[in-house]
Order: sequence, then structure tokens, then C-alpha cells
Amino acid sequence: MSTRLAGKTALVTGAGSGIGLAVAQRFAAEGARVYFADINAEAAEKAAAATGSELAAALPVDISDEGSVEAAYASVAAGGPLDIVVANAGVQLFGQDAKVGELSLEVWEKTVAVNHRGAFLTLKYAVRALQGRGGSIICTGSPTAVVACGQTFTAYSSSKAGVHGLARVVAADYAREGIRVNTVVPGYTETPLVQTIADDPASRAGLVDSTMLGRAGTAADVEGIMVYLASDESAYATGGLFTVDGGLTAL
Ligand SMILES: NC(=O)c1ccc[n+]([C@@H]2O[C@H](COP(=O)([O-])OP(=O)(O)OC[C@H]3O[C@@H](n4cnc5c(N)ncnc54)[C@H](O)[C@@H]3O)[C@@H](O)[C@H]2O)c1
Repeated sequence: MSTRLAGKTALVTGAGSGIGLAVAQRFAAEGARVYFADINAEAAEKAAAATGSELAAALPVDISDEGSVEAAYASVAAGGPLDIVVANAGVQLFGQDAKVGELSLEVWEKTVAVNHRGAFLTLKYAVRALQGRGGSIICTGSPTAVVACGQTFTAYSSSKAGVHGLARVVAADYAREGIRVNTVVPGYTETPLVQTIADDPASRAGLVDSTMLGRAGTAADVEGIMVYLASDESAYATGGLFTVDGGLTAL
């Protein structure tokens, strides 16, 4: 394994499962000190321990709660400066998110609280941590923010469009301070988040058929672009959207 992130410190939200787990573990394998941030403290502990690296640690946090996010960044700061933040944690409320005429305010608020407000809070404190030093922030976006493949997912698609917009404006506001912000757009990626789709052969086949490469993605498919954007190899990349979707949004 290479050590493209040796000497760097990263915080990855949603690192207890799926894409965040794969990315945080890959960052650790690439030599970074990594904080596995997740609302599920047990999953974060397990994921950090599985790296076998002394530089990996769990960081319990609820990204929808400002006090929790502020406290998490304060505990990271006590251990040294940060270089990389991956704002990745998210929720998708299958069976509850719906067409706008049928969507409850409660489900809208729950989704937006984690996906959009959570990304806002993660970036607010990320920027404060990186100011004066520079660094890389990566948001996990979604094809549903780019094309209408998220039909009936009104709250989820809207919250993810909010994330794409947030990333662009933060990129513009802090570029001259050496802080880069990019968005990674995974396609249909088989993780616990989308188990409902995986369990429904017709839905799964529909998504796979809409993907140029003709297969579902895995969390491992997303690692490489994250390492690139986290490392100095991407020094000239900011404000960008990087799709790793098997061709889903281009078809
Ligand atoms: N899986 C896909 O097909 C897909 C496609 C495009 C984008 N995404 C996005 O990728 C990101 C990761 O999704 P995944 O598929 O790995 O999902 P996942 O459910 O496997 O993992 C999400 C993690 O986020 C954590 N989390 C949830 N709410 C939180 C909160 N309030 N504070 C802190 N942590 C919280 C969960 O505990 C979980 O460990 C999400 O933003 C998702 O919207 C996923």
C-alpha cells in the first residue's frame, strides 16, 4: 500500500458504515491519522480498531447538533491540527420520503437536519480548523442532486442539492485561504443505506440498467477519488463535482 496521506490528519463523518467506513480505513492505510466520526459510537470504535493503526480513533458526534459538532472538533484540536475533512454522513428515509404532495414535514426536517444542516455544521467547524493552515474538505453528494433519478425522494434529493450548493460557495469563499472544497458523487453504491433497493430485485435492476458499467458500485469504488482529493495531488482542484457513478448521471 502507498502512503499518499502520510503526515496528514483527517476527520471522516459517517465512518461507522458504508462509504465513510471504507474511506476512513483507506485513509488510515495511506498513512493518515484518522478520526472515525459517527453518531454510532460503537460502530466507529469497531471501525477504527479494525485498522490496527495507533493513529485511528473513534469520534462520537451527531452532525445535526451544533454543540456536538463543536465539541468533536475541539477534542480533535487538542490532539493537533487537521488537514482533511470528509463530510459524508447522511440518511435516506426509505418508505417515508415521498412525492412532495405526500411528504410529511417531519420526514423533510429529519432528512434535511442530517444531510444539509449536518454538512453545514461539519463545514463551519472544518473551515475554522483549517484557517491559517489550508486543507481539503470533501462532501459526499448524490446523483439525485444532478438528475431526477431520485424520483419520490423529495427530501433526500433536495438535501443533497443543498450539499452541492454549500460545497461550491464554501470553495469560493475560502479558496484564497488555501482551503479546497470538492464534492464526490457516488452512484448506486451497495451499503446499508440502500439495503431497501438491494432487497427489491426490480428496483435494483432498474438502477443497474441505468448505469453505463452495468453493475452496482461498492464503497471501495469511492476510495480512490477521496484519496486523490484529500492529497496534495489535487492541489488545483476546488469547487468541483467528481462523479464515481459508473456512468449513471451521464446516461
Ligand atoms: N449508498 C449509496 O448508493 C449512495 C449514493 C450516493 C450518495 N450516498 C451518500 O453517501 C454518504 C454515505 O452513505 P452510505 O451509503 O455509506 O450510508 P451508511 O448508512 O452505510 O452510512 C452512513 C453513516 O452515517 C452515520 N450517521 C447518520 N446520521 C448521523 C449523524 N446525525 N451524525 C453522525 N453520523 C451519522 C450512520 O451512523 C452511518 O454510520 C451519505 O451522505 C449518502 O447520502 C450514498
